[in-house]
Amino acid sequence: MSGPIRLDDTWALDRLDAKQIDRGITEAALQLQLLIDRKGAGSEYTGWLNLPVDTPDSVVDRIEHVAAVLREQSDTVVVCGIGGSYLGARAGLEFLAGVPSRLQTDSLPDILFAGNSLSSWQLRKLLHRLEGRRFSIVVISKSGTTLETAVAFHILRTELIRRFGTGEARARIVAITDSEYGTLRSLARDEGLVTFDLPRDVGGRYSVLTPVGLLPFAIASLDIRSMLQGAAEQRTTSLGSPVATNDTVHYAVARRLLNTSGKNIELLACFEPCLHFVGEWWKQLFGESEGKGGKGIFPASAEFTTDLHSLGQFVQEGTPTLFETVLDVPAPVDVPFVCDSDSSDGLAYLNGRSLSAMNHDARIGTLLAHHDGGVPVLQLTVPDVSERSFGAAVYFFEVACAIGGYMLGINPFDQPGVEAYKRNMFALLAKPGTEVEAADIHSRLAKHN
Ligand code: PA5
Repeated sequence: MSGPIRLDDTWALDRLDAKQIDRGITEAALQLQLLIDRKGAGSEYTGWLNLPVDTPDSVVDRIEHVAAVLREQSDTVVVCGIGGSYLGARAGLEFLAGVPSRLQTDSLPDILFAGNSLSSWQLRKLLHRLEGRRFSIVVISKSGTTLETAVAFHILRTELIRRFGTGEARARIVAITDSEYGTLRSLARDEGLVTFDLPRDVGGRYSVLTPVGLLPFAIASLDIRSMLQGAAEQRTTSLGSPVATNDTVHYAVARRLLNTSGKNIELLACFEPCLHFVGEWWKQLFGESEGKGGKGIFPASAEFTTDLHSLGQFVQEGTPTLFETVLDVPAPVDVPFVCDSDSSDGLAYLNGRSLSAMNHDARIGTLLAHHDGGVPVLQLTVPDVSERSFGAAVYFFEVACAIGGYMLGINPFDQPGVEAYKRNMFALLAKPGTEVEAADIHSRLAKHN
């Protein structure tokens, strides 16, 4: 099937004034043009706009070649990264775990993740799982200096060298980083590692369609050409459709209008667990892009129907500060339900209905209930579980996020706030050069003891 991502905003905007909506669309159209013309804030980081059409075949060929080598030599590949250097790859791998191209390939390596926390327990479990495994590492860090990733990579690389020796360990590491700068680039240069460059004009959370996502996807035998094609098709729709019928623009407008009407939390809800990590990726994209200058919508996510039994009560009747965006995708497989008319479990009325049909009715029932509870509900439909649709969804959200950021009057491509915790952490860890901050922090902490 495939095709562009579809928006239904009728269950959200029915309480808003038509003139307000028209004004919002006019404003969003201006911001979209600013983005396309690369004249908005942070335009030096808008290289992602053209990735689906500008990524040379030679780069895709090389990604597929390196992926094939890693598949051949490994039963496990550890992808080491955090934030934008992690979430997109994980989102795509979990979403596409059941697609035919993957299922048809024999003996794919397990893909595990590291470097996305400083948890000893998590790393210990990973090292335990790697015992006796022929593993390789893909380390991803644009800056090349992120502590979580650098520390995990150091430990995993040490283990790789201990197990396979320096020479073979080298052949089992691929580094994805800046083409020139950063500790990871210098290390890769010194060690002669296989590397991929991260384009300078693409920020971490917009990088899933670079080798950051494409290499892990190719290792999993996913069709990355089809993914880029889906993104390219969505690019034509998102950047080129008239604003009156442009769902990407309308999603950005709906969010903005709901925000100005007092809704400052967006709950991205899905009814298929394969979308769980798409939600995690989406939270970073919108949270890190919009949350600046005291503005932005707080992005939260939930997995229904599971979370209807935990968060559902709050959504229905709690503080009325949130709106919901339901991200829907048809289940790639279905489970029929057969039940005799005299079955003692009382489920005979469901005989002949499939689980997907039940999930569908649960979704519609939730939509009606939450709307009745005063919660505006946007609905986004991903046409199917396929590489093409994943590429399209990534592109759709990236453009909507950029337009939304511009409508808020902020730069959606930087993340100055993330640096604050790092400064404190490095000072506490006595990183050379942080002595002044460390003295200040210790005197502040002393007042609390
Ligand atoms: O979107 C971003 O820029 C961040 O989330 C980064 O991706 C994250 O902090 C990891 O940075 P790096 O790739 O430099 O290790």
